Amino acid sequence: SAVLGITRGSDGTAVAPFDPSRDAIGATPGFGNEPDTDPALAANRDWGRRILARVPASTLGVDTIAASRIADPTTLDTVIDGVARAGAAWGARPAAERAALLHRAGLALAANRDRLIEVAAAETGKTIAEADPEVSEAIDFAHYYAERARELDVVQGARFVPSQLTVVTPPWNFPIAIPAGGVLAALAAGSGVIIKPAKLSQRTGAVMVEALWEAGIPRDLLVLADLADHGLGTRLVSHPAVDRVILTGAYETAELFRSFRPELPLLAETSGKNAIIVTPSADLDLAANDVVKSAFGHAGQKCSAASLVILVGSVADSERFHRQLLDAASSMRVDWPENPSAQMGPIVEPATGKLLHALTELGLGEEWMLEPERLDDSGRLWSPGIRTGVAAGSYFHLTEFFGPVLGVMHAEDLDEAIRMQNAVDYGLTAGIHTLDSDELATWLDRVEAGNLYVNRGITGAIVQRQPFGGWKRSAVGAGTKAGGPSYLFGLGSWMPEEGRI
Ligand code: SER
Repeated sequence: SAVLGITRGSDGTAVAPFDPSRDAIGATPGFGNEPDTDPALAANRDWGRRILARVPASTLGVDTIAASRIADPTTLDTVIDGVARAGAAWGARPAAERAALLHRAGLALAANRDRLIEVAAAETGKTIAEADPEVSEAIDFAHYYAERARELDVVQGARFVPSQLTVVTPPWNFPIAIPAGGVLAALAAGSGVIIKPAKLSQRTGAVMVEALWEAGIPRDLLVLADLADHGLGTRLVSHPAVDRVILTGAYETAELFRSFRPELPLLAETSGKNAIIVTPSADLDLAANDVVKSAFGHAGQKCSAASLVILVGSVADSERFHRQLLDAASSMRVDWPENPSAQMGPIVEPATGKLLHALTELGLGEEWMLEPERLDDSGRLWSPGIRTGVAAGSYFHLTEFFGPVLGVMHAEDLDEAIRMQNAVDYGLTAGIHTLDSDELATWLDRVEAGNLYVNRGITGAIVQRQPFGGWKRSAVGAGTKAGGPSYLFGLGSWMPEEGRI
């Protein structure tokens, strides 16, 4: 049995057996990461072309969405009661039984890889190269949480009491992996679930839920909700029967949820404004490539994306680095996902407001190294943009834009670079490219972000290898990390178990 350092608080209640500030990584017996589809194989490229040919006429998930519409408060209350009841029965089952069903859910997601990619591309414009790893991540969540769930029953000295009803409110930018991760974690931890997908990716959420139903997850235990209006959303999140909300979205949304119900147990991964530092000791070719992938993958619409690159000392004058950065960004193929070789797809909606400003306006002292171009009339397809001369404390330095535009900053030394990286309100991901161990040690000691990457891009966390969660305004709630060993421990409450301590 697992002994995970259960302690009791001064009032005798057991304290959750994890230290959220140290999400230790360890191999999970019985778990291995699902591989992505390898586009080097001709058969896989044909498979991809067949999926993409269906995208323009895709209607996957439409019927399920129509059937799941909740239009009035009475129906919502009935649904909430039903899921809470099913959740109570589910949470009383042994974790091993839940784990078996979760493994089946993983297999069902794998069997639906093509449908999930099709509907995500159709709804959000996600390219196949970006959507395929999302399916792998969703499958990983199923198998990983299945194995971690077994631990909930064997912790010594405390009893895990599952939530009965968890509400999952995911974003549109990872329309497969994030909804799946929230739902599967809650189910693994023994809770009933209502998922309310983001408006812009509802059908993808529906196809993901259909796959889980197909695997045998009962329809009364996992409910997909399309709420007719904002009032019903507020009612759902504020409902006293809801034990927990798993939110991935803007920091402001987390604050709004808290204003509805201050004592609401909220597990939220929120906004980011992330930077990669490049020092003179770095492999500059690798750094340029990683910066471009992190800045422009999924058109910059990842909470983990690099919005800034901070060049230390002589890197600011390195012709080689600047040429590589410019070449890598300007040679990206930008197109709609129906083009199988598109490397960067459209943004999810026509650019307006803050993002349009970032794509078209420069701040004081800034210049375009690569000016973004609007590539068609949709307002959604933009080529990547790189601005230089971003000043410390400027609007671009401190604001999250969520689109394909990167800012270049200069720092005298590593010390100043770290201060620039930490100056933002958020702390989601952060990267450094350095081959100097002293620089690395200094950085690790001082950087303020939940996910740190060294000599690698800063997007694409892999389940178990890089448990994912934020710091500062990038997280609200327990501070545990998705795809990491303590995540399920934060999804219920802990009671002292008499006679066992
Ligand atoms: N998990 C995603 C990434 O690592 C962000 O949500 O890019």
